[in-house]
Amino acid sequence: MLEIRDLIVSYGAIEAVRGVTLTAAPGAITAIVGANGAGKSSLLRAITGLAPIKSGSVLLDGKDITKLPASRRAELGLAHAMEGRRIFRQLTVEENLQLAWQFGRRRNAWADALERVFVTFPILKDKRRVQAGLLSGGQQQMMIVSVATICNPSYLLLDEPSLGLAPIIVQEIYTFFTERCREDGTTVLLAEQMAALALKVSEHGYVLRQGRVVREGPSKELVDSGLVAALSSAYL
Ligand SMILES: Nc1ncnc2c1ncn2[C@@H]1O[C@H](COP(=O)(O)OP(=O)(O)O)[C@@H](O)[C@H]1O
Ligand SMILES: [Mg+2]
Repeated sequence: MLEIRDLIVSYGAIEAVRGVTLTAAPGAITAIVGANGAGKSSLLRAITGLAPIKSGSVLLDGKDITKLPASRRAELGLAHAMEGRRIFRQLTVEENLQLAWQFGRRRNAWADALERVFVTFPILKDKRRVQAGLLSGGQQQMMIVSVATICNPSYLLLDEPSLGLAPIIVQEIYTFFTERCREDGTTVLLAEQMAALALKVSEHGYVLRQGRVVREGPSKELVDSGLVAALSSAYL
């Protein structure tokens, strides 16, 4: 179980996360929805050790990891598919995957890990020797989620996996991690501006606004309450 307690993240004078408490239930998908600037990415980055935590705590299976360096958190099985497709653009698809596997917590053989990626996303097999920077946006996102999951993480943080992608690709990416979650029992924390999308696949959801949780509940209840429509109109 992943638990966040009274978390405050600040960049100098800017408080991006202002006292968030949430729980990601084991083996389930938990959604964090909210408009641009709500603090979703800061929250995920704080969990993996990449954003400055001012106060509060992050607990993994009851263990306080708030002060551990990012590398130690990764060793504990925490993986983060970051917003904005951060990849090594000059390296090939296979090199990107291999780096992630080498520096991750290896629990599976390289050949098996690679095969699993290629079975899931055959296009990445075709493009294995192509520089990652030359892939389409959708292919890059497939690689990002594959890089994040290649070491079979126990916890997967996904930051806006749908951003800028065609609906059919979004569907493919979503199918990938929902199946991963079901098959491997991975605990997923999914940050999305597209509330409808995230609440459809998640069990529980939190709505962030200006760094605070303003609503939470079973995703179905959040959808039924008209929240999605309210959030969508807020974006316009
Ligand atoms: N590295 C940073 N330095 C300063 N301010 C930041 C930084 N990253 C994010 N912010 C600010 O923190 C707030 C929350 O941003 P962010 O966590 O990216 O929200 P979201 O992912 O929901 O769009 C915004 O006001 C943003 O401008
Ligand atoms: Mg963000």
